[in-house]
Amino acid sequence: MPDLSGKVAIVTGAASGIGKTTSETLARHGASVVVAGHAKAGAEEVAAGIRAQGGTAIAVGVDVTDEEQVMAMVAAAVSEFGGLDALHNNAAATKMGRDHDVVNVSTEVWDETMAVNLRGPFFGCKYAIPEMLKRGGGTIVNTSSAAGLKAERIRVAYGVSKAALHGLTRHVANAYGKQNIRCNAIALGMILTEAAERNVKPDMLAYLEEHNALARLGRTNDVAEVVAFLFSDEASFITGEVIAVDGGFTSHLPALVD
Ligand SMILES: NC(=O)c1ccc[n+]([C@@H]2O[C@H](COP(=O)([O-])OP(=O)(O)OC[C@H]3O[C@@H](n4cnc5c(N)ncnc54)[C@H](O)[C@@H]3O)[C@@H](O)[C@H]2O)c1
Repeated sequence: MPDLSGKVAIVTGAASGIGKTTSETLARHGASVVVAGHAKAGAEEVAAGIRAQGGTAIAVGVDVTDEEQVMAMVAAAVSEFGGLDALHNNAAATKMGRDHDVVNVSTEVWDETMAVNLRGPFFGCKYAIPEMLKRGGGTIVNTSSAAGLKAERIRVAYGVSKAALHGLTRHVANAYGKQNIRCNAIALGMILTEAAERNVKPDMLAYLEEHNALARLGRTNDVAEVVAFLFSDEASFITGEVIAVDGGFTSHLPALVD
C-alpha cells in the first residue's frame, strides 16, 4: 500500500466520480488533500467525508479555466498545509451530443472543451510546479482517456484535448525532471462513474464491456489506486508516461478481436 503520509495533494474535479474516489484514496494512504471541486459545496461534502473517516482534507471551489482561481487553489494548499507535493489534474468537460466530427463541431464547443481539458491542466502545472520546487520536487498526474490515444469518428474536441494533454505531460516531465518533478498521464477506458452511467446508454456500456480484454468495465478505485501509486515514492522512476488504465481496451484491434 503506497504511503503518502506527509504529502500534500490537490485533486481537481474532485466533487464527483474519479476525483472524489481519488481524494478519498489519497487521504486513506495518508496524504493531506485539497479537494478542488467546480462548486465548493460539492467539494466540501467530499472533504467532510474524508475528515469523518479520520483523514485530512480541505475543500476549495475552482473553475480550472480561470487562472486566478487556479492560483488561489494552489495558494490554499500552501497556506493550509505548508506546501504542495502532488497534483491530480482530473477535471474535464465532455460535451456529449455536441462534440461532433471536425466539420460539424462548433467553435464554441471546441473552445470550451480546450479551456477545461487543456488550459486547466496548463494552469495547474504552471502554478503547482514552483511550489513543488520549493519542497525539492513533486509529482503530477493528468487524467486522459483512451480517446486521446485512439481516434473516434466524433468527439474531436475531447479527443484532441486529451492527446494534447499527453504532450503537456511529456513536456513537464522533461522540462522539470532534473529538478525532481515527475509527470504522468493515465489514459482511461470506460470507468463506471455517475457521469458515465448518465451519459452512456446501457447497450453501449454492454458493447464496451464485451470488447474489453477483461470481463468488466472500470471502477473509480481502479483509477484512484494508480494515482496513489504514481504519487508515491515507489513510482519515483516513472515519468513522462501515458499509462492506459482501461482493462485492455486499447490493447487490441477492435475490428479483429472477435
Ligand atoms: N468515466 C470515464 O469512463 C472516463 C473515461 C476516460 C476519461 N475520463 C476522465 O476522467 C476524469 C474524471 O471524469 P469522471 O468520469 O469522474 O466524470 P465527472 O463528470 O464526475 O468528473 C469531471 C469533473 O470535472 C469537473 N469540472 C468540469 N468543468 C470544470 C471546470 N471548468 N472547473 C473545475 N472543474 C470542472 C466537474 O464538476 C466534475 O466534477 C476526466 O478527466 C475525464 O475526461 C473518464
